[in-house]
Amino acid sequence: MGSPLSRRLNKPAEELRKPEVRPIEAPPPPAPAAEKPAEEPQGYIPPPKRRTTPRVAELRRQLRPKLLAAPSEADEWRRDNPEHQKIIVDRLNLFLQRANLQLPKPEYDELREALLDDILGWGAIDPLVRDRSYSEIMVNGPNVIFAERKGKLIETEYVFDDEEHADWVAQKIVRRLMRSFDREHPMADARLPDGSRVHLVRRPSALQGITMTIRKFPEKVLTVQDLIRFGSFTQDVADFLQACIVARLNIVVAGGTGSGKTTLLNVLSSFIPDDERIVTIEDAAELQLTQRHVVRLETAPPVPGAKDGTGQLTIRDLVKGSLRMRPDRIVIGECRGGEALDMLQAMNTGHDGSLTTVHANSPRDAIARLETLTLMAGMDLPIGVVRRQIASAIQLIVQQARLKDGSRKIIQITEIQGMEGDSITMQDLFVYKTPDHKGPGPSHTGGGTLQPTGYRTKFGERLEQAGFKLSGKIFGGGMVSGSKS
Ligand SMILES: Nc1ncnc2c1ncn2[C@@H]1O[C@H](COP(=O)(O)OP(=O)(O)OP(=O)(O)O)[C@@H](O)[C@H]1O
Ligand SMILES: [Mg+2]
Repeated sequence: MGSPLSRRLNKPAEELRKPEVRPIEAPPPPAPAAEKPAEEPQGYIPPPKRRTTPRVAELRRQLRPKLLAAPSEADEWRRDNPEHQKIIVDRLNLFLQRANLQLPKPEYDELREALLDDILGWGAIDPLVRDRSYSEIMVNGPNVIFAERKGKLIETEYVFDDEEHADWVAQKIVRRLMRSFDREHPMADARLPDGSRVHLVRRPSALQGITMTIRKFPEKVLTVQDLIRFGSFTQDVADFLQACIVARLNIVVAGGTGSGKTTLLNVLSSFIPDDERIVTIEDAAELQLTQRHVVRLETAPPVPGAKDGTGQLTIRDLVKGSLRMRPDRIVIGECRGGEALDMLQAMNTGHDGSLTTVHANSPRDAIARLETLTLMAGMDLPIGVVRRQIASAIQLIVQQARLKDGSRKIIQITEIQGMEGDSITMQDLFVYKTPDHKGPGPSHTGGGTLQPTGYRTKFGERLEQAGFKLSGKIFGGGMVSGSKS
């Protein structure tokens, strides 16, 4: 950078201590903020953006690294800690003084807050990260940032100054975890210090530039009573699910992205009795079980720089390993690869009462997905064998969905009955209905309830043996298993 401004700022931190006399140069005049005309889908009006002036953006870009003795210096510092703020602001003032730069007060204030956000917080998205009412933040390149609040996804007024600014924050996120995010590692998974889950992708794959998806760590873990209160399901359904968990049915939670699978898995796991040994296996640990006898396992990325995957542990490795840990229950955060085969085998060989989630939009879809995932294990199993494994391993599929009004609900609870010829037979026990919805499947609009279909579970005896005598009313009055009364 050869501008007078950059020359003045381009001094290492040590030099700041040396006295120096320099002529005062007039700072370049503030240029009007040039908003690039965005290419937006027709009819959609993006909100006005909160963009820093080009001069503040330029100062911010140059000063961010200079106010730190080392890139990691402030990684453990806090945005809301007055002492940490003071260190940064003192350094900023010294820099401006040494560079003979006098900014008008509003511009100085803007620069100071911007730098505090960059160095102590998470840059442009810091307000969104700190505001607990946002549950998810999505950065689609530096200029478009969406966020979810109370189930509604909206485009926000925040923007990063440029790609380098977004990268500054991305590097800050991965550095703490000693992970890499660069051309060699263009995709990364990470976590914020508060436990929020982060997924990062960059060019060349992310065409709009750095893409971040942040799932906020819930301040309070949602409990079964919270979900009942939100109308996600009824007390009757909760009683039924609790009975199924205690009676050690193998259960799969199915749902689309962000539909609430992990939250439901956490709630279902909370029904596991305290005296059982639980092993949880996740890509990025999100489950928060309150039982004491829990072993939490998380996948490990390869050692940075290792070309042969040294140090890597996949979900599949962990599932296989967990079987030697004498688990009473295995809870797998999500089945998305060959581990499906190991899980089914475990379920079929005495590790019943296990739980997992799959990415699927209906129970039938969940079966198809499990078939595909099992075939991915590369064992060359005939499809008939795979189906039989699934039919005997899994007893219940609970379908979770994010509805059109933004609410998240269980929309279907389906039992696997067995096999008829080559196909798996299933029976819906509960289906979510809205008053105007007539079809046999669940409705996808808000304002309905999860209603019993009238079919009673075929596992009634098993539930009874586990100490649960559920009234026929829960199933809509049905008394005979597998048939309608
Ligand atoms: N029943 C519910 N009612 C209201 N909010 C919910 C409900 N279930 C989940 N949420 C919220 O929805 C968001 C997504 O939930 P969750 O992480 O469980 O989804 P997911 O399906 O596991 O997502 P992903 O596919 O990304 O793993 C979280 O912010 C969570 O707190
Ligand atoms: Mg999840």
